[in-house]
Amino acid sequence: MSAPRLILAIESSCDESAVALVRADGAVLAERVATQAALHATTGGVVPEAAARAHHAWLPRLLAEIVGDANGLGVERKIDAVAVTAGPGLLGSLLVGASVAAGWAWGRGLPIIPTNHLEGHLRAAWLHPATRSGAAVSARRAPRALSTAPTLPAIGLVVSGGHTLLVRIARDGGIERLGGTVDDAAGEAFDKIARLIGLPYPGGAALSALAATAGAAATGGGDRLPIARTEHPFDFSFSGVKTAAVRMALVAIGADPSSPGRAGALAQMLSERPIPSGAAVVIAAAAERAIVGALVERVERALDATPGAALIVGGGVAANAALRRALITAVERRGRAINIPPIHWCTDNAAMIGAAAHAALAEGRAELHDPGSGVAVAASWKIGSEVPR
Ligand code: KG4
Ligand code: ZN
Repeated sequence: MSAPRLILAIESSCDESAVALVRADGAVLAERVATQAALHATTGGVVPEAAARAHHAWLPRLLAEIVGDANGLGVERKIDAVAVTAGPGLLGSLLVGASVAAGWAWGRGLPIIPTNHLEGHLRAAWLHPATRSGAAVSARRAPRALSTAPTLPAIGLVVSGGHTLLVRIARDGGIERLGGTVDDAAGEAFDKIARLIGLPYPGGAALSALAATAGAAATGGGDRLPIARTEHPFDFSFSGVKTAAVRMALVAIGADPSSPGRAGALAQMLSERPIPSGAAVVIAAAAERAIVGALVERVERALDATPGAALIVGGGVAANAALRRALITAVERRGRAINIPPIHWCTDNAAMIGAAAHAALAEGRAELHDPGSGVAVAASWKIGSEVPR
């Protein structure tokens, strides 16, 4: 079979159930995303079993809706293949998506393309909306946040609740892994510190909003948290920022900062003696500076090591205004281009999986599979060749 022109894509690796119809040129004809954020807010984090059940409930509904959309656009019979996220992610959630996708593809006699979620975040930069008639809106005219059409080579940064990854994408689309986090993901660090200062899960956006209310005095000098060193210059480490934030919190409530104790004891202490609001603002601002500083420092190194490379950013943390400002400054200083997709394509979605499947097929990194043989999923699926260290 020749390369598919229209892919129906399915994403369910974490806490968003999503489906989309994506053309080979990156035009998104239709899409649906059902977020489980409210469900997981009740437990303060994603409970894998609850996430899998929610995907099981949502995916068939979203599929029915997208088929309705395809019908309305007159393209239902033009769907050539089904792409599904096969990893990395939560095993149960991946299995639900894979079996729903395989069943749907098998029922229609379509091939299936197991697709990598991280490649999806990187390839979101190539997406653009289609008009009602299905015609592509020019990528340059599309209402994207930062709109230079992606060029290669590029440095790619994926920053989400589950991942922090820095790659180099070569002119032919080949991916080289430069570095990643050695402990917490950037979004996870935001969420843990947000929780510490009493913000509900996921607290990254609320922490950032709180940080924005701090004056320059609160974010400068004395309250600056250290940017962690890592053994390798392209790796990230965020657990130290969290530990430093815990110490600031203990000082703020008059407790001994030298013995933070176990997480349960700390939570108990903070529920009895909440952090004063002024101190919470200072902690939020200091933590944001440290996390953003660490991300930008590594990106600058990668840009300097890759002459002429553009920058592509994906993942939910790309919504962070301080990070966007700092990255724009970094690329402008070097005369480079930057592409950060609109937020709904930075957070988990299925359109990016469609774009990644098209790219992987075109670049010979993926094949069309028979859905009757099932789809193998992998909770841990690294991308890119390793750069010698
Ligand atoms: O990509 P995403 O929607 O889900 C995955 O983790 O896969 O990313 C969600 C993460 C959460 O950790 C959330 O707190 C963080 O992105 N986030 C932010 C902001 N908006 C979302 N972190 C910092 N500042 C923000 N404005
Ligand atoms: Zn993601």
